[in-house]
Amino acid sequence: MSIFEYNGSALIAMVGKNCFAIASDRRLGVQLQTIATDFQRIYKIHDKLYIGLSGLATDAQTLYQRLVFRHKLYQLREERDMKPETFASLVSAILYEKRFGPYFCQPVIAGLGDDDKPFICTMDSIGAKELAKDFVVAGTASESLYGACESMYKPDMEPEELFETISQALLSSVDRDCLSGWGGHVFVVTPTEVIERTLKGRMD
Ligand SMILES: *[C@@H]1O[C@H](CO)[C@@H](O)[C@H](O)[C@H]1NC(C)=O
Repeated sequence: MSIFEYNGSALIAMVGKNCFAIASDRRLGVQLQTIATDFQRIYKIHDKLYIGLSGLATDAQTLYQRLVFRHKLYQLREERDMKPETFASLVSAILYEKRFGPYFCQPVIAGLGDDDKPFICTMDSIGAKELAKDFVVAGTASESLYGACESMYKPDMEPEELFETISQALLSSVDRDCLSGWGGHVFVVTPTEVIERTLKGRMD
């Protein structure tokens, strides 16, 4: 089994009309044994910028701490929040620094830019960015997430429809993956508010 699959995970980010959503499952396991069913793998960087970290949970937490530290230094020096594009380049650089002994993480980044234009991106464990206009996925359920998102996604969705779409895509995908599941966490971010919801799903 791959080191990326030890703890199990499912992550999606999806773009709507002047908004975005980011969602994850809630399971934390060690191979097939479930350790926790309320695990949080989506982290807030600032009001309009979120990062989800799939892969090895211990590396995800280390990486998150380093990213918060670097973002705080940036805020002190620049007296403003980072743009999502800038943050994605920072994550990419931090991962590539460890090219020959990488963090076993695959991040998903989602944010609103200056003009409230949504930005989403994912990258591999050595920081190779993959940009998308519609959705990005990561984690052990990524194969089924691609399928679900491909068939459910529509362009220019309003926040409520976006929430419904990302939630249904997540819940149907984790049913096809035994290493992720136990409900989900969803954040829908608009220029004026953040809607955070916890999903109930199959608990088996
Ligand atoms: C994640 O998987 C690793 C590798 O098996 C394991 O050592 C670790 O305990 C797991 N994480 C947690 C927090 O259980």
